[in-house]
Amino acid sequence: MELLKILTLLSVITYTFCVDHGNFKTCAQSSFCRRCREMEPNKSPYVLNFPSAQITPNSVHVELWNNEEQVVFNLTLSALVDNTFRLQVEEASPLRDRFRSLYALKSDPVLAQLEMVSRNEDEITIKNGDNAVKLIRSPFRIDFFSDTEFVASVNARGLFKFEHYRKNDQSDPAANDAENADANSEKKITDPGAWEENFKSFRDSKPFGPSAVAMDITFHGASHAYGIPEHADSLALKDTKDKTDPFRHYNLDVFEYELDSPMAIYGAIPLLYAHGPKRTTGVFWNNPSETWIDIKSSSNSENNVMNSIVNFVSGRSSDGEENKDKTVESHFMSESGVIDVFFLLGPNPKDVIREYARLTGVSPIPQYFALGYHQSRWNYNDEDDVMSVSDNFDNSDIPLDVIWLDIEYTDHKKYFTWDPIRFAHPRIMQQNLTSQGRKLVVIIDPHIKRESGYFLHEDALANDYYVKNAEGAVYEGWCWPGSSSYLDFLNPVVMSYYSSLYSLDKFPEATNDMYLWNDMNEPSVFNGPEITMPKDCIHYGNWEHREIHNTYGLLQVKATYDGLIARSKGTKRPFILTRSFFAGSQRYAAMWTGDNSAEWSHLKISIPMCLSVSIAGMPSCGADVGGFFKNPDNELMIRWYQAGAFLPFYRAHSHIDTKRREPYLFPPEVRNLLRDAIRKRYVYLPLWYTLYHEHEISGLPVIRPLFMEYPSDPAVSTIESTYMVGSSLLCSPVTSAGASSVDVYFPGGSDELWYDIDTYKQYKGEGTVTVPVDMAKIPVFQKGGTIIPTKQRYRRSLTLTHDDPYTLIVALDSKGEANGTLYIDDNESFEYQKGKYLYLSFTFKNNVLTARRIDQDATYPANSWIERVIVIGYSKSAPAAASLKIDGKKDIIKLPVTLDETRQHKTLVVKKPAVKMTQTWSITL
Ligand code: NOJ
Repeated sequence: MELLKILTLLSVITYTFCVDHGNFKTCAQSSFCRRCREMEPNKSPYVLNFPSAQITPNSVHVELWNNEEQVVFNLTLSALVDNTFRLQVEEASPLRDRFRSLYALKSDPVLAQLEMVSRNEDEITIKNGDNAVKLIRSPFRIDFFSDTEFVASVNARGLFKFEHYRKNDQSDPAANDAENADANSEKKITDPGAWEENFKSFRDSKPFGPSAVAMDITFHGASHAYGIPEHADSLALKDTKDKTDPFRHYNLDVFEYELDSPMAIYGAIPLLYAHGPKRTTGVFWNNPSETWIDIKSSSNSENNVMNSIVNFVSGRSSDGEENKDKTVESHFMSESGVIDVFFLLGPNPKDVIREYARLTGVSPIPQYFALGYHQSRWNYNDEDDVMSVSDNFDNSDIPLDVIWLDIEYTDHKKYFTWDPIRFAHPRIMQQNLTSQGRKLVVIIDPHIKRESGYFLHEDALANDYYVKNAEGAVYEGWCWPGSSSYLDFLNPVVMSYYSSLYSLDKFPEATNDMYLWNDMNEPSVFNGPEITMPKDCIHYGNWEHREIHNTYGLLQVKATYDGLIARSKGTKRPFILTRSFFAGSQRYAAMWTGDNSAEWSHLKISIPMCLSVSIAGMPSCGADVGGFFKNPDNELMIRWYQAGAFLPFYRAHSHIDTKRREPYLFPPEVRNLLRDAIRKRYVYLPLWYTLYHEHEISGLPVIRPLFMEYPSDPAVSTIESTYMVGSSLLCSPVTSAGASSVDVYFPGGSDELWYDIDTYKQYKGEGTVTVPVDMAKIPVFQKGGTIIPTKQRYRRSLTLTHDDPYTLIVALDSKGEANGTLYIDDNESFEYQKGKYLYLSFTFKNNVLTARRIDQDATYPANSWIERVIVIGYSKSAPAAASLKIDGKKDIIKLPVTLDETRQHKTLVVKKPAVKMTQTWSITL
């Protein structure tokens, strides 16, 4: 390896414990971002050529002219089902085809009927249902209305830009046209990076020149912006305009990423929410090339002070009229591709996520084991080490479902191989884990070791499966194995080849109980510009890497997913963890927040980071429990296990240089608390599993920020340390050192009741309360009016719990009522898609708890039953007995009822109803 490569590599992999800013571009260092961001507002040269307009039953097609550069674009505005519009703009006669994002959408969006409302020389107005869209000729603008309210406008600030492909010589007709000399498009793009861009020692050859697309979208009546993950930043998006760099979307492997920063990290989902107490609107900017997004919310700015003064003087009320004047301004800037943007008109946050899920899909319900506790580290040394970890969990009575193997299990980082000495009998190792009810997950990265004789490298060379460099030779970069090349997932043949590698006859020693971790898939290239692949690399179809960058990881996990489906002949739901993701990745994989650090600030930010990803359609998010870099002290370790128990993906993982920290290694007082946290996770798994089923049918995330559950409460807009699991649990884990209390915001008003899940102490939804905590406490509260199914028997792993009985926790609201649901199936297969499941509802009203089936046609022969019903907040005097009536049976069975006075709030316990989950029944108190 040349010296330069070694030096670059060392500079990258030396852990300095803070991000090396010099490795990553700022907007000012990025030619297209600079050009878009420096545009002067209100000088838009774009006009709609209305005589060209054609209005079809679903769409308006009209030419959009750039009058300054004499370029024609085709604009299509389509009405889609479910309050959604799609805006597409493409060049009318491009010199080169432009890349259209193909992989984010789950299928072709369903068109809806569009009606013409009015048309004159300056405006065309169409509508679909209660939504209307006005296209304004000059300067070009599009206004969206919902229920007659003005909700959003495109190009209101005149920042729309579409850099058409042009020639880099004087043969451009515009350049040769003397009359248009001033309008010469090349002369206009004077930016030095337009045709060739240098960053550090890297040169981007840019053979096709400038190709940016950009657009401003202003949301009216919106006070806060959310979404556009992945950033290590707050849930409510901070203003970037005039303050910091824009939020960046460019999937990157950022060592020791910085917190509270708009810098790009591993994943990108360009879904933005603009939210006010009366309405929420979403925008999905479907472009996988590098994208920067400027945000400015008037609630964050001085404007807001002005508004308050105006409101005070005019006597306007606080949450109604006042919000009319509030705006969220956004400015999307992408390096290439087309404009393909979806307007999701809500009107509330749960509608927006449903509308988005309709376009990009949902996560199929995971296998039950995937919701359990996962133990990982870089690395478990050998097979004995793996089995001793598994045994030690058993010896310490700590539940564990999955053990992970990082890159060292391979034969010299050649994926789809095993180290012949340390992992000489991997199949036996997996069978041993399986016999303990556990699974194995192994890592497979996308870089391929360039070693002659390595079958994958040989296949890839022989069949032309690799990404090419700008000169057309196979691209060679540097990653864990040393010199590596990268499979070109744009090529469908490579996709199916890669999928086939996961089959049991190709992946040596693999079993159906081994699942996958796709890491480094931004892709990470240690010696590449910004630690990734050069933008002028060439993919199948002659697309430049710049055009597809943010979907590279999505394509890898899609191929892995398809491979796992084929491996089990469609019988087992795949489990895949990915680091890089784009819109649509939720259909294939869970994600985690990458290389965090054992610091309190990293524990704290894991919550808003996972909330942002969740509202962007990816329900399965977790952070390395304990922190990846550095060694946590006991207190941080305990608090992290407690917080992780209430995030969707629960995995401990750590860097190769850290001290071993499996929970059983800690002194008893610490180990007991770690075990308690993991057990609490397992108690609530029937709720989590039900929420995943509900995600699959509704698109709703499993964890939700308070603004999604209480959209009209302005006080929750910036709350990110307290959030909800579904609609029933309010979680506020401890995320700071030495805490003796946490401030919990109880939403919902004085009629809403909340019960501490340990003590059943009651709180009213009247705002912030300081709740005392000790080291054992995870501040979690069940909402009054909900019924949560739990399983309270402790087992070593989840496969053993399938038939265990349920305890229903009925938390009464102020009217003495409650409702809940429970989903049950075989925990692992796709049979549920053929109706083999139970989806039950529980209702408590007028002292009667009733169970019935929601989906009458679905059946599943569950052996599980109900062993206990706990009723919290029962205000009447306790009955001596309850009467159980099972449908179809004549007898009424008397059940003992006890009053549990060990807790702070009066609680009734109905013991052993012993009804099967397949039965419908009622219990009268
Ligand atoms: C980077 C990942 O983020 C980390 O979790 C993993 O341990 C290392 N790669 C080694 O595979």
